[in-house]
Amino acid sequence: MGSVSLKIGDGTARFERAALCSSAVNGLMLLSVLTTNLFAFYAFTYTPNTQLTHPLLHTHKNISLISEQVSLILREIESSQKKLTQMEKELLGFESIDLSRPNIADELKLFLQRHQLPLGKDSRTEITEMVASVGHSCVKSMDMISEYMNYKPSGQCPDDLSLAHKLILKGCEPLPRRRCLAKTISKVGLYNFPISLWKNVNDKIVSWSGLSCKSFECLKSKKLSKDCVGCFDLAANGYENQRFVKARGKNDFLIDDVLAMGSGGIRIGLDMGGGSGTFAARMAERNVTVITQSLNIEAPCNEFIAARGLFPLFLSLDHRFPFHDNVFDLVHAGSVLDVGGKPEKLEFLMFDLDRILRAGGLFWLDNFYCANDEKKRDLTRLIERFGYKKLKWVVGEKVDSGKSEVYLSAVLQKPVRV
Ligand SMILES: *[C@@H]1O[C@H](CO)[C@@H](O)[C@H](O)[C@H]1NC(C)=O
Ligand SMILES: *[C@@H]1O[C@H](CO)[C@@H](O)[C@H](O)[C@H]1NC(C)=O
Repeated sequence: MGSVSLKIGDGTARFERAALCSSAVNGLMLLSVLTTNLFAFYAFTYTPNTQLTHPLLHTHKNISLISEQVSLILREIESSQKKLTQMEKELLGFESIDLSRPNIADELKLFLQRHQLPLGKDSRTEITEMVASVGHSCVKSMDMISEYMNYKPSGQCPDDLSLAHKLILKGCEPLPRRRCLAKTISKVGLYNFPISLWKNVNDKIVSWSGLSCKSFECLKSKKLSKDCVGCFDLAANGYENQRFVKARGKNDFLIDDVLAMGSGGIRIGLDMGGGSGTFAARMAERNVTVITQSLNIEAPCNEFIAARGLFPLFLSLDHRFPFHDNVFDLVHAGSVLDVGGKPEKLEFLMFDLDRILRAGGLFWLDNFYCANDEKKRDLTRLIERFGYKKLKWVVGEKVDSGKSEVYLSAVLQKPVRV
């Protein structure tokens, strides 16, 4: 393959969106220009009622009247421009947090304050102050963020995981809470690695607060997502235990087969939407270190993964991956790639995934659920644009609760781009 250039994005979709936004702005601009011109027209044709006789006085009067009107018009234009900028900001959904609002938690103000560097300007970067990093969308959930930031510094953090999730899913990421102590839970009965990989985790060593299940027994029968069906049930010969080592259909690839395609160079990887961490566990048995990205939606995934002796990454997929370019040998993802929304949303994710994967590295798309033909076509087209080498490509059907569903599985190799 060795494609040289990367065809970037679906130009039309992006143009349409940009055009929509700019046409709204253009409309506003037109309106403002029209009103301003009407104003000017009125000013220039306006005739005062008092009839003055002296012609020189007339001229003088008219000129001062005109200049007065002109400055009025200029002021009007200036204020219209300000309003336009404001409207544009609102249309884009981007506005900095207004800390002058009432009911803003002091802790939030303090967190967002710029801090001067202690030793003055850094000569290399020219930076003089530090700015706290917080998701710009936090501004859209000010009441929630204020509630979230309402805690006693140095005290115990409020127990409000579901509030944190709500904020993250609304794009308020990273969260601004830094200065309180998270509730500690004593981690009793942890096993040594690698025995820990397949041992059940004690209910008492995780926080169940804000979750509907209060035990792993309750979670075992749950279908939390397409990629996590009873994924907390680690029983030998159970469904979870057989994943990646025993195929149930042609869409299931085996870990050893995929590792063989990487010809020995697969040492570190990222599993997106990794549920309970089983992919990382199977990889750990093969001396491959895998980081498992997962939120704690409806289950204490992060604690469970950690208790297995694996590395959990608490981050939504809307966030840019906190990894440098070209570092991973392998990225594994399933239906979690179905991010919904506009096609660009998937593009943002795919480009970021491509960024962190090294040339020659593998992208294992594992049982991606194609809800419809369009979904399959969109993803296929996007993948093809990256010029990956298709080492394996399987479209298959599975029956789920009486319904036939289409799944796509693939192993793709990132090309060297020059
Ligand atoms: C000034 O205004 C008066 C009446 O409004 C008009 O008759 C006159 O022609 C104007 N003069 C000039 C120089 O425009
Ligand atoms: C993993 O590494 C250990 C220690 O280096 C080694 O003994 C073992 O054979 C390796 N396992 C595999 C599957 O490569």
